[in-house]
Amino acid sequence: MTRILTVPTQPIEGQKPGTSGLRKKTKIFMTPHYLENFTQAVFDAIGGVAGKVLILGGDGRYFNDRAVQVILRMAAAQGAMRVIVGQGGILSTPAASNLIRKRGADGGVILSASHNPGGIDEDFGMKFNGTNGGPAPESVTDKIFARTQELTEYTILEAGDVNLAQLGEVVLGDMTVEIVDPVTDYAQLMGELFDFDAIRNLFTGGFRMRFDAMHAVTGPYATAILEGTLGAPAGTVVNGTPSPDFGGGHPDPNPVWAKDLMDAMFADDAPDFGAASDGDGDRNMIVGRGIYVTPSDSLAVLAANAHLAPAYAKGLSGIARSMPTSRAADRVAEKLGIEAHETPTGWKFFGNLLDAGRVTICGEESAGTGSDHVREKDGLWAVLLWLNILARRIEPVQQILTAHWAEYGRNYYSRHDYEAIPTERANALIQRLRDISGDLPGQTFHGLVVESADDFAYLDPVDGSQSARQGIRINFAGGSRVVLRLSGTGTEGATLRVYLERYEPDASRHDLLVEEALAPIIAAAEEIALIREFTGRQGPDVTT
Ligand code: G6P
Ligand code: ZN
Repeated sequence: MTRILTVPTQPIEGQKPGTSGLRKKTKIFMTPHYLENFTQAVFDAIGGVAGKVLILGGDGRYFNDRAVQVILRMAAAQGAMRVIVGQGGILSTPAASNLIRKRGADGGVILSASHNPGGIDEDFGMKFNGTNGGPAPESVTDKIFARTQELTEYTILEAGDVNLAQLGEVVLGDMTVEIVDPVTDYAQLMGELFDFDAIRNLFTGGFRMRFDAMHAVTGPYATAILEGTLGAPAGTVVNGTPSPDFGGGHPDPNPVWAKDLMDAMFADDAPDFGAASDGDGDRNMIVGRGIYVTPSDSLAVLAANAHLAPAYAKGLSGIARSMPTSRAADRVAEKLGIEAHETPTGWKFFGNLLDAGRVTICGEESAGTGSDHVREKDGLWAVLLWLNILARRIEPVQQILTAHWAEYGRNYYSRHDYEAIPTERANALIQRLRDISGDLPGQTFHGLVVESADDFAYLDPVDGSQSARQGIRINFAGGSRVVLRLSGTGTEGATLRVYLERYEPDASRHDLLVEEALAPIIAAAEEIALIREFTGRQGPDVTT
């Protein structure tokens, strides 16, 4: 017997979705009514779930299993027709996006705090993706937040847990719960996009790869596709068994948190190719033998070579990058004669451009790359596109990069993060830059002449929506620049991100150490933004 309970509740402060859904400490999500309130606000904001089909799954972090059961019971209480759940409550973010599109669902709920650590003392998160498979736009997240501030009750079915271990359909109240294999549909899509025969031949020829799943959700996906379908040797995927606390690690694929992979790729017996993905499988990291590929360079190289993969053989309609991402991709777009777009940070801003067919490939400095195949960034997709390119060019990663820079010039790039700084100080630093930005053009700092400076505002060319105050851009003559913005994904204080970029057209200066190449930009950024003074820190906490 099942009964619908109406539970009185009160608004809970701070349930404001950030760059990518609501992220909080797991213990906060576990407090009474917290998850239920937010779920109710999401359901209300989308006009209720009665008669609807939803996709549901998460990256398997601590509390994923409990949260899935609560959301199922609330969806059932509120008349949803069908919820399609990944087996065990698991779906990578790109796999969820694919299922929403493939099954024509009304949307999906994804449980993840992405690359943030998991566990009872770490982070949890929840976001809603719409019918196109992409993260809800600001108009929807604003509605969700507004609803969280006025809730008085929610409804939930009184019922036991659904057994999510078994594939197939079960009934929960009047709703059907369909439990699907999390990998199957996604793997099929990848097979349609890429030249799997060429990649298989690459591995048969002795090509060696190391894919670090970081104890997170891509383990089963990578094992099935790389070692299963593509015939990479067993052991190619490391840390491939997902765990609720990601093996106690930080599932963020960058040189700091994927140090093991970096060490392996810089060792004497390094494999040909290294890659990693994050907690929920949407980010990627690419490393060649002895060379780390920045996400910005990766986007540019993928865009320039995408035609080597069947899905992109016809060419690209356009390329989009988030504002702080280096401008290397713009040069590729220019050469290809296609549109280049600069959007605010956050994958959701690519959605309209992709839906309108204005861009085919998108990327962000934060290790996200993707295409119009889904509406999320996609870690394994990026890895497979790289493999497809390597299989066709038969050249080391290093050589591909060197040739790319020779053709387009090199955008040296680095990001400095100042973490958990007091919010007032971070805000004051940015406010001051806003105030002085009008006076900067024409001034010289460490030999760099400011050409323009502003607080980035975006006008979406598809729906005309506007997003102001997206970060300070300071452009120097010659194509170098500094960008400063506050992170929208942190859970503690504020994180200041300083993005440093130097454009170097001259191939004889393409093998400088990145820190050396960027030294004047770093010095100019300090002089302009007074970072030490405002943050009270002598240097960044994390440099990537
Ligand atoms: C999430 C989003 C990305 C975005 C990133 C920025 O990962 O999915 O699209 O680039 O956050 O994070 P930040 O902490 O810089 O706001
Ligand atoms: Zn992620």
